[in-house]
Amino acid sequence: MEVPNDGDVAHSYLATRVPEQLPIAVLVSGTGTNLQALLDTVHEHEARIVAVASSVPDAPALARARERGVATEVFARASYADREARDEALAEWLLGQGARLVVLAGYMELLGEAFLARFPRAVINVHPSLLPAFPGLHAIEQALAYGVKVFGVTVHFVDAGVDTGPVILQRAVELPEASDAEEVLAALRPLEHSLLPEAITLLAHGAVHPDENSPRRVLIDRAGGIGSARGLPG
Ligand code: GRF
Repeated sequence: MEVPNDGDVAHSYLATRVPEQLPIAVLVSGTGTNLQALLDTVHEHEARIVAVASSVPDAPALARARERGVATEVFARASYADREARDEALAEWLLGQGARLVVLAGYMELLGEAFLARFPRAVINVHPSLLPAFPGLHAIEQALAYGVKVFGVTVHFVDAGVDTGPVILQRAVELPEASDAEEVLAALRPLEHSLLPEAITLLAHGAVHPDENSPRRVLIDRAGGIGSARGLPG
């Protein structure tokens, strides 16, 4: 497909000019509904999912990848001497598969500095809260316990902290009567499943830029309607 806005990619978050389909890897640990959303939207369009790695041997997400012929591998923490050794093996495999962007989609492990250095400014995560509120595990339960009326989803760059990297996209939903985590999750699922493909589309088009004046601030260039293609919300 046509890649607009390629004049300024040197200053975008993916350091070099990308090919038409951005090669991405997806890291999972569980059900894989976000992976499925990527397989159903950006895969073989703006991006190509070249690898799916799981921390859990029998994660249902692996079957979703295999169904589409995507290479899969399991990197269980218990199979390695320590987290660093696991990270090293994982990075080697992902690079060997040609991944340029690493997408954490329900990946329940932390990645160390050495791994992140292999994919500079090219690891993103989807989290079911409006960060910096409610990072870490059980974000929806945390939000309910706090009594918030507005919930939401964040796609952010990954740094060595827990859900602390710069925010790329956020989307909110008002649920003033919410009292049940399943109900909130059901409301957040569609947001996650559109926001993550949208972020990848923007990154693939070189439309995501650091703000030179404010290091945490991520600028989105929506010139040409990038991110609103094929029903993705603009
Ligand atoms: C999602 O809620 C995501 O925000 C969080 O983990 C969950 C993964 O769900 N990081 P799934 O495996 O993609 O269905």
